[in-house]
Amino acid sequence: MENTNAHSLMDQPQVDFLPLLGTDHVEFYVGNAKQAAYYYQVAFGFELIAYAGPETGLKDQCSYVLKQDKIRFVLTSGLQPDSPISQHVLKHGDGVKVLALWVEDAAKAYEETTKRGGVSFMEPQKMTDEHGEIVVSAIHTYGETIHKFVERKNYKGAFLPGFKAAKSPMEIKPVGLKYVDHCVGNVGWGEMNKWVEFYEKVMGFNLLITFDDQDISTEYTALMSKVVSNGNGYVKFPINEPAEGKKRSQIEEYLDFYHDAGVQHIAIATDDIIETVSELRRRGIDFLYVPDNYYDDLLDRVGDIKEDLELLKEQNILVDRDEEGYLLQIFTKPVQDRPTVFYEIIQRRGAKSFGKGNFKALFEAIEREQELRGTL
Ligand code: FE2
Repeated sequence: MENTNAHSLMDQPQVDFLPLLGTDHVEFYVGNAKQAAYYYQVAFGFELIAYAGPETGLKDQCSYVLKQDKIRFVLTSGLQPDSPISQHVLKHGDGVKVLALWVEDAAKAYEETTKRGGVSFMEPQKMTDEHGEIVVSAIHTYGETIHKFVERKNYKGAFLPGFKAAKSPMEIKPVGLKYVDHCVGNVGWGEMNKWVEFYEKVMGFNLLITFDDQDISTEYTALMSKVVSNGNGYVKFPINEPAEGKKRSQIEEYLDFYHDAGVQHIAIATDDIIETVSELRRRGIDFLYVPDNYYDDLLDRVGDIKEDLELLKEQNILVDRDEEGYLLQIFTKPVQDRPTVFYEIIQRRGAKSFGKGNFKALFEAIEREQELRGTL
């Protein structure tokens, strides 16, 4: 890979002090969880599996837990203006509060990370109900975002103690979303390296790839990005910061509307991106638009691919190749009024990278949206 520093695992310490089994869930703080839950069920094909709120003994919040294959999303709203959840939404708009990681031992995860400088959000807490026991702990990461460590090996309930099992009130048709591939954070000017160091030192992650502002720039805007990954590669966090350009980069726009560092996009894997994306379009999901001439020399750039080029063009899906294979990807427009959080749908055919060959076309697509919003 040109301009890319790939670090082999051989260079890294052998003992993983924070073994992760994967992403446990992503929790969003939103203005109206009831309606957001409807959107994720109807548009994205998630099943409602659990609920907590006044009916289950919670005085000041409501949470809906949604699931599709291995992905769990939690949508939470506060019920009073002084609730920390409502305050979070007031400042940031709808956004990701919790990136929860699935661990064997939540007390040990807490101890290992806090002794390396992780800032405590919640000490290990044991919660029980008739379905067993869960241990949860949490530390702070960038902005007001937190990492929860969830230990659920002794639990058989729908989600966590305090939640009751729930079912979607209508028939849900999944769209083929399988698991969280990576979650990207946007941080402030000059802060990328500080957060990469946090993931390396506090969480034992490895630096996987570096993209400088030469890799990620158009005529007008630029950003920088580094990708960190945990030991087994199940959890990958790219971290972006803005870079100087002639105009305002998408990262600055995000920071202006989120008013802090925070999660920019969540990439979700599918095994059939053409089917997934065409179904999402039928259900009203908006995607970024890349002009048709992107496809003129696509096969020259990426070589043989299994998919029909015409179908990819019809769905506006992007393709990129690295030394291990290729990947197909597409990005939604922001999923709330503020130009903050959006989704990537990704299908990997061997490639383990992030679509560097598409950055320019994508950022030009985002610039066109910024232009419309008057924020370029
Ligand atoms: Fe991504």
